Amino acid sequence: MAYPKQVRIVEVGPRDGLQNEPGVVPTETKIALIDRLSAAGLPVVEATSFVSPKWVPQMADNADVMAGISRKPGTVYPVLTPNMKGFDAAMAAGAEEVAIFAAASEGFSQKNINCSIAESLERFQPVCDAAQERNIRVRGYISCVLGCPFDGDIAPQAVADVAERLTDMGCYEISLGDTIGVGTPEKARAMVEAVAARVPVDRLAAHFHDTYGQALANILAVLDLGVATVDSSVGGLGGCPYAPGATGNVATDDVVYMLHGMGIGTGVDLDALVETAWFIADALGRDPVSSVARAMRGKSRAAG
Ligand code: HMG
Ligand code: MG
Repeated sequence: MAYPKQVRIVEVGPRDGLQNEPGVVPTETKIALIDRLSAAGLPVVEATSFVSPKWVPQMADNADVMAGISRKPGTVYPVLTPNMKGFDAAMAAGAEEVAIFAAASEGFSQKNINCSIAESLERFQPVCDAAQERNIRVRGYISCVLGCPFDGDIAPQAVADVAERLTDMGCYEISLGDTIGVGTPEKARAMVEAVAARVPVDRLAAHFHDTYGQALANILAVLDLGVATVDSSVGGLGGCPYAPGATGNVATDDVVYMLHGMGIGTGVDLDALVETAWFIADALGRDPVSSVARAMRGKSRAAG
């Protein structure tokens, strides 16, 4: 076993989580959520997305969110930018890191961003070039790396092809998204091994959804291969509006509890994180789905 000693958590709840809420969460609540997450020690808090408000109305207040947050020195607040329109708006809002998002499957690419994989990569090139000119770091996402709601199974080589292209275009990191949470540990390993043959493993991140309850097992499997960046969502918020059946990302609280229990550092204050999971759950009017948030609340109640 060669687990990393330190794991960098990329908190995606305010974006990947709240984009999938049926209702629009008030801007003030989003800002409070992001500030609580940075205060809890999350090094990266994905704040919003600069996508079409016709497609994702939940993120239409992107500029107000960026203007309202208290930027903690050392914390990074990336935002999604699918095209130059999004990139320009993100720059006007003071974003310091952006993310582009491609897919490993044609079916999902069409449904999510309305074009083929090849067309999407063409559209991302000017975003990458403009980012490079301004010294803005670009993260690259790949969706449906372990299965697609429209195309079914995905070959690990298809993921590796897109990962290599995004890296060549200038992405500093590739986040591998099991968008519909169908993966199991050996499949996750095989996929990461295929990608790591083309992109150094220290530039890969695991972005696993917990739809089938496999996310922690899948994370463990790829940590063992040297992946040391994990995307997760406070309280397990989320899903993807263009992936039917996609439930939340693996919960940050569950990931942090597991890692700390294994002696792996994250820099995150678990108590503050769990408080934050309850803060957003209360705002949404339901309990968090994460086991750790519920267990820790139950324990503190029992202790009186
Ligand atoms: P389109 O309709 O093909 O694009 O959408 P278009 O260029 O023809 O533009 C249509 C309209 O949108 C125009 O307005 C544009 O101005 C406007 P109109 O002239 O009709 O009034 N528009 C924009 N407005 C604001 N910001 C922009 C922007 N771009 C165009 N950036 C497009 C193509 C990519 C824009 C659209 O499909 C879109 O916004 N998709 C967003 C999809 C999305 O956000 N999905 C969720 C995030 S991905 C995800 O969750 C997966 C991930 O978590 C990893 C994983 O789990 O797998 C990352
Ligand atoms: Mg996601």
